[in-house]
Amino acid sequence: MATLKTKVLNIEFENPFLLSSAPPTARIDSIDKAFELGWGGAVLKTITPDNLEMIEASPRYAAWKLNGKVYGFENIELLSHLTVQEWLDGIAYLKAKHPKKVIIASIMAPVIKEEWQKLVKTLNNTSIDAFELNFSCPHGMPEKGIGMAIGTDPEISANITKWVKQVAQKPVFVKLSPNVSNISKIAQAVIDANADGLSAINTVQSIMGVDLDTLEPQPNVNGTSTFGGYSGIAIKPIGLRCVAQIRQTTDKPILGMGGVSNWHDAAEYIAIGADVVQVCTEVMINGYEIIKPMCDGLLNYLESKGFNSPNDIKNKAFVKLTSHEKLKKMHTCHPDINDEKCLKCGKCVSICAEQEHSALHLEDRSVKVDMEKCVGCSLCSIVCTRGAIKMK
Ligand SMILES: Cc1cc2nc3c(=O)[nH]c(=O)nc-3n(C[C@H](O)[C@H](O)[C@H](O)COP(=O)(O)O)c2cc1C
Repeated sequence: MATLKTKVLNIEFENPFLLSSAPPTARIDSIDKAFELGWGGAVLKTITPDNLEMIEASPRYAAWKLNGKVYGFENIELLSHLTVQEWLDGIAYLKAKHPKKVIIASIMAPVIKEEWQKLVKTLNNTSIDAFELNFSCPHGMPEKGIGMAIGTDPEISANITKWVKQVAQKPVFVKLSPNVSNISKIAQAVIDANADGLSAINTVQSIMGVDLDTLEPQPNVNGTSTFGGYSGIAIKPIGLRCVAQIRQTTDKPILGMGGVSNWHDAAEYIAIGADVVQVCTEVMINGYEIIKPMCDGLLNYLESKGFNSPNDIKNKAFVKLTSHEKLKKMHTCHPDINDEKCLKCGKCVSICAEQEHSALHLEDRSVKVDMEKCVGCSLCSIVCTRGAIKMK
């Protein structure tokens, strides 16, 4: 029998699914509900010193939707609106009721040693399992010199990590931003400063779109907008890449996130190097109940493949990453066309003809491949709307 139980450092997780620091963890009663429904843990909405001003814009969200489904989500939301005392009371309540659930306190403060250390010392006295340092919020906070302004600078990131580590009595994870040219450099800097693990990724800096009637950028806040943070299904490839690059830098634990919407995504994150995963946007769109199919699906997958726990798939895909130079490039694959599924619409033929190779043609009402010309790029299988082309 496989299990979803996972151990990271000395922290035991019932399952590898955590709520990330975001609206689903902004209130004590909603975290309580999430724990009842089966979430393994929660990273609290980022806690800041009470005197840090937090004035929200309206609207603060925008989305890229297709056929009713949200693929990409942008927010310009700030941090927690609860006071530190409200969090202290809330953590005590949650841990007393759910002693086996993992609670991680996400924190952020101005770049002042005393401010960070004061917050950490206050939270040391609670039953949290770890800290997560938010060095990565891409909107609002960078204008104050914090959030992503910290996580894009290796020196400031290292300094704050050292300050926190000097006083923290719980493990310290640092949450990194994807909005850097080299995430490994920031990861290395905080590891050298003694961080116990990394979390990645926070949101990807973005502009959701432009309303062509009014020529106003989105989300439209009284006719103006600002750079926001992109999340949801659309950013999973960026999250996977960042987790793998961090894994190339260290074997310390990684809490992976970015576009996890089902158990498949979670398994992919773990296989590429994460220890457990965090989820935000999918919960905001579809509610806490998604935890059950996520747990059931991952457990069934592990059992069907003969794995005992999520740890058995950790790094299994990561070790297959190599440089472009080392790819076996002569191992060319070709399209295999399923004549029953193919509508003979000719789209693959005309798209291929517009590219470099012109390797497909219609003959006797079926698509034929000229093996001499085909380079196995796979564009035909991507543009086929019927799923009639598989690369073999
Ligand atoms: C509305 C919203 C608010 C967020 N607030 C925080 C926050 O307070 N602290 C933080 O570390 N990350 C915050 N995040 C980032 C998420 O925790 C997560 O890193 C990101 O959304 C990627 O995961 P996802 O694709 O599952 O949403 C927020 C994300 C969203 C969408």
